[in-house]
Amino acid sequence: MEKLLANQVALITGASSGIGYGVAKALANAGAAVALNYHSHAEPDEQLAAEIEQAGGSAFAIQADVSDPAQVDKLFAACRARFGGIDIVVANAGLQKDAAIADMTLDDWQFVLSTNLTGQFLTCQAAVREFRRRGPSTVSKALGKIICMSSVHEVIPWAGHVNYAASKGGIQMMMKSLAQEVAPEGIRVNSIAPGAIRTPINKDAWDSQAALDKLLQLIPYGRVGDVDDIGKAAVWLASDESDYVVGTTLFVDGGMTLYPGFADNG
Ligand code: NAI
Ligand code: BGC
Repeated sequence: MEKLLANQVALITGASSGIGYGVAKALANAGAAVALNYHSHAEPDEQLAAEIEQAGGSAFAIQADVSDPAQVDKLFAACRARFGGIDIVVANAGLQKDAAIADMTLDDWQFVLSTNLTGQFLTCQAAVREFRRRGPSTVSKALGKIICMSSVHEVIPWAGHVNYAASKGGIQMMMKSLAQEVAPEGIRVNSIAPGAIRTPINKDAWDSQAALDKLLQLIPYGRVGDVDDIGKAAVWLASDESDYVVGTTLFVDGGMTLYPGFADNG
């Protein structure tokens, strides 16, 4: 059977760990050639690219800081040079720098906003330019597909993380406004909003039994998510199977946005 993303090219930012790494693997398993962006650690992506190529796929690793416009341009140019064009862009890179409001420095605020929100803006902008440059696709119904990695915190307020929650709230309206702007030319823009997924970003929330028990109180489905859960959603959202899905946030959160604290309260 033909793979869902056969002959397509995907670029994934922040692919050296966690969700980006898992999404890159899933897209490659679905048949896509993948460009794996990393910020500072080359080894995981170089290793993954080698594994994908050994298994008969196509992949390469490339360094870029998504908050720097010149580096984002370099990233897209490298992908174009290697694969000729791009069909799928996953704007995933993101980070936390948590602090209570009175202690949050301007640097803490700007660091998170410039990576999470400006970084996704620059990535989306470059993606739209690239889809237009390449022109109609022979491998997908859409001219191109963009997936923004948002979070349940695009809707759930998060004390002690106002920079992070503001960045994800910003992604929600950036994604929808962009989707409205470019849908008429066949570009599909959507978000995935993960709940708690076991990655380095939230290690403190799951790596001791006490923390895990506390976290599970927020997840009606009763388990912490795996990067695989997000990888599968990304494959579907990047494929023609979701061709009529435009400007939507797909929550993949085990029910975290059902506000389980209200189950027997309120
Ligand atoms: P992670 O820390 O494992 O991965 C983040 C990746 O982004 C790393 O590879 C890092 O190098 C990269 N990155 C950071 N700044 C960068 C920059 N300036 N340029 C390029 N790459 C950069 O964390 P995780 O969990 O995989 O996070 C990935 C995305 O998923 C983030 O946008 C995060 O906000 C989002 N997310 C994660 C959730 C979770 O529970 N793990 C839940 C909801 C959203
Ligand atoms: C955060 C994680 C957190 C999850 C659920 C994500 O956006 O990056 O640290 O565990 O949301 O609260």
